[in-house]
Amino acid sequence: MTETIPDSDETRALRRRMVAALVNDGALTDDRWRRAFLAVPRHVLVPTYYQAGERIDGQTDPQRWLRLVYSDTTLITQRRPDAVTSSGTMPSLVAMMVQALELEDDHRVLQVATGTGYTAALLCERLGSAQVTSIDVDPDLTTAARDRLRRCGYTPTVITADGAHGYPEHAPYDRIIVTFAVTSIPPAWIDQTRAGGVILAPVFSGLAKLTVTGQGNAQGRFIGPGYFRRHRATPMAPPGGFSVTGEKQPRWPPRTTDLPSSVYYDNDFRFFLDMTIPGLAPGYREGDPHNLTISAPDGSHAQVTPEGNLTQSGPRRLWDDVETSHHTWRSLGAPPRERFGLTVTSQHQTIWLDTPTRAIIILPRRAHHRPVRHA
Ligand SMILES: C[S@@+](CC[C@H](N)C(=O)[O-])C[C@H]1O[C@@H](n2cnc3c(N)ncnc32)[C@H](O)[C@@H]1O
Repeated sequence: MTETIPDSDETRALRRRMVAALVNDGALTDDRWRRAFLAVPRHVLVPTYYQAGERIDGQTDPQRWLRLVYSDTTLITQRRPDAVTSSGTMPSLVAMMVQALELEDDHRVLQVATGTGYTAALLCERLGSAQVTSIDVDPDLTTAARDRLRRCGYTPTVITADGAHGYPEHAPYDRIIVTFAVTSIPPAWIDQTRAGGVILAPVFSGLAKLTVTGQGNAQGRFIGPGYFRRHRATPMAPPGGFSVTGEKQPRWPPRTTDLPSSVYYDNDFRFFLDMTIPGLAPGYREGDPHNLTISAPDGSHAQVTPEGNLTQSGPRRLWDDVETSHHTWRSLGAPPRERFGLTVTSQHQTIWLDTPTRAIIILPRRAHHRPVRHA
């Protein structure tokens, strides 16, 4: 395990600078949270990270390491040959999320996706460790986070398990805060939140703030972007559960398209698209983001060049579906993410526009697999 670099005048000064920048940018407005961000030594919780494939830590390059640890940057903290599996969420996003919880001093919180332990540490600083439970599917991460949190003086309950099942032993919670993306709110989160409590979770690519209304229902709005790594059911599962694209997929006749690849980078449309075609993965060719390739979990694939030349393969014509989704979104008036809301019942998950009575997409609740607990 990497050696802990203690808090010092230098790390405290860097922290003050980061917090001042967050305040200046309007990301950190609540004074109690400002004090928590000042108190938590992020460098103890993020002793190493990866940048452009290179491992950076306090031993090999202390200045560079500290500079990014105390900047408003998402840091890759765990990776496997084929995927990034954990990261330290950028502090401004953490600030937005914890402030959106509207915590009261006696609240009990379940924090799903421990990662580095930074969010858990902030919650412990704000509420006291006894009121915080944190859960991550990966035993390497929970072991490290538990140890680093203790070195910072925090002792929340840190559990290794699939966060989709919550942690009933400490329920009911006043708040559940989640930092991995789901396409459907797991029933356990609603069951384990008291009536009137709040679940804050990235659903598709929007951050949903839902109030639990009792009888297994929850309702609320999307309050901002929620681009997070997808939920993985076990530590080794590929995030998002993609099927492998086979070589023998059918190829559809090439054609041209009037819908430019740039629509994929329109955040408001992207949110709508993520809801209508969940699980799309983008890529691009020849270093040009407008030479777009997208893949769907069923193995469908589309490539659009900047000139509008289109090729598609796999079980369905993926770009045709993107065009249909774009047409629907435009016919709704091209609404931004924040005009959408979500109602979750035991049967359905309904996405609505402006008001819960204006349903736009009704999805069945996905069956959530059985709990997996690790030692
Ligand atoms: C974006 S990182 C968490 C970031 C954390 N807030 C921080 O700042 O360190 C996402 C985390 O979700 C965890 N994760 C993915 N699937 C999970 C699951 N089913 N249950 C619990 N944690 C999961 C990953 O192991 C990863 O650590």
